[in-house]
Amino acid sequence: MTARPIIIDCDPGQDDAINLLLAFSSPEALKILGITTVAGNVPLNLTERNARLMCDIAGRHDAPVFAGCDRPLERELLTAEKIHGKTGIDGVDLVAPRQPLEAQHAVAFIVETLRAAEVNSITLVPTGPLTNIAAAIETDRTILDKVQEIVLMGGAMREGGNQSPSAEFNILVDPQAADIVFRCGRPITAIGLDVTHQVLGTPQRRDRIRAIDNDVARATVGMLDFFDRYDTAKYGSLGAPLHDPCTVAYLLAPELFKGKHCNVSVEIHSELTMGHTAVDFWHVTDRPRNALWMHSIDADGFFELLVNRLDRFSHA
Ligand code: BDR
Ligand code: CA
Repeated sequence: MTARPIIIDCDPGQDDAINLLLAFSSPEALKILGITTVAGNVPLNLTERNARLMCDIAGRHDAPVFAGCDRPLERELLTAEKIHGKTGIDGVDLVAPRQPLEAQHAVAFIVETLRAAEVNSITLVPTGPLTNIAAAIETDRTILDKVQEIVLMGGAMREGGNQSPSAEFNILVDPQAADIVFRCGRPITAIGLDVTHQVLGTPQRRDRIRAIDNDVARATVGMLDFFDRYDTAKYGSLGAPLHDPCTVAYLLAPELFKGKHCNVSVEIHSELTMGHTAVDFWHVTDRPRNALWMHSIDADGFFELLVNRLDRFSHA
């Protein structure tokens, strides 16, 4: 099997961080061309630092890390320290990362990489606000031909919003960017709260990860234990949702997911419902089916995959 070339665009964030570790676990399937970071859960200087720390923890220094946009295209930055803690990855022992930060801007890296790529060859995996991806598209629309697929975490239909009554965090932080991405014309797989709220890090599931004797699993469970506090209180559920790792899990095991091709349009005008993803699930409009909207997941299968892949680091 040839490894699929991907760029992970993220705002770590415990769940973004775990998504990076999951991606690092599977080099036979995924070739990480670069990790691009954006302001979101915490400011940019912390998201790029956190991404670099994950490279160290995974012992993988072959994927360069870039810092990108430090604020949304048009709106003020909204952060989420109350969920992720001051550092964005509370639950991990913080040390200065050894993995360097590349000098190039993340948007320039995305544009340059896509320009040099074959048509239809690169998968973008955004797990934060879509600012960097939209900025790259706005810089040079000819790069779109090179995109095979965009597999993103964002949006909500049945679940309602987690950052406002109508909107999911990643979309609400930069709705203008999300609007550009959802209208870009390339295949989009959208994994929103309808799916991620089914993927709960219950105590039993966390204990399975705790039982794995390696640094990557220890970091994962530390982050999940922290992440759990806020979400369990908020949703009254049995564990925090693992939002972002659903993206890489989809690349590794698409059979775990079920979805439907729909139109997804982003609200960018009404302040009340700003960032809402209007999903035309029942095809009641003629709007083009621009996304594969995921609605369900085999959550036990997801955790089986996560546990198996984290265990790989014990034998690396
Ligand atoms: C998304 O928002 C962030 O808090 C998480 O990292 C995830 O990407 C969930 O709404
Ligand atoms: Ca994220």
